[in-house]
Amino acid sequence: MSHAEDHEGTRRDFLYYATAGAGAVTAGAAIWPLVNQMNPTADVLALSSIRVDVSGLEPGTQLTVKWLGKPVFVRRRTQEEIDAARAVDLADLPDQLAENANIAPDADASDENRSLDESGEWLVMMGVCTHFGCVPLGDAGDYGGWFCPCHGSHYDTSGRIRKGPAPTNLPVPTAVFVDDTTIQLG
Ligand code: FES
Repeated sequence: MSHAEDHEGTRRDFLYYATAGAGAVTAGAAIWPLVNQMNPTADVLALSSIRVDVSGLEPGTQLTVKWLGKPVFVRRRTQEEIDAARAVDLADLPDQLAENANIAPDADASDENRSLDESGEWLVMMGVCTHFGCVPLGDAGDYGGWFCPCHGSHYDTSGRIRKGPAPTNLPVPTAVFVDDTTIQLG
């Protein structure tokens, strides 16, 4: 590839890996200086993608990566978490929509419509409370999912709002498995 081709400003230039495992918690912080260094314009940044290596993630744990300036939760759920999420009567949900950028906007909020893979093992969501934008805590709250301490919003193990002032479920961003252990955001 010529030098010119190498710098055409393709998406590839803005693709980074965040690594799970020991460095998981700092992955977001580690990738940002790199992006800032390249000083991309705002519109290029809006197109950027990152790849997250999830090979080190154990069931029942989650990784938080920073993407487009916001935290994204990547959780590898236990069978109990999946079962709890799938046993919920959809009529009990304050927000009846999947809020998943990967599927139709009017799709219902079933856990099947929110999880990344068919088995439901993987759940990817924006880690931003839909009330006023605080970052909810994992493994917390009355529904065993996430809890936002700012004003008391409880989310279930599918990231759906169940109690408190948040109006909608935690949004699922554009995400896809590009191989067995790598999730691409954007
Ligand atoms: S910002 Fe989360 S409950 Fe208000």
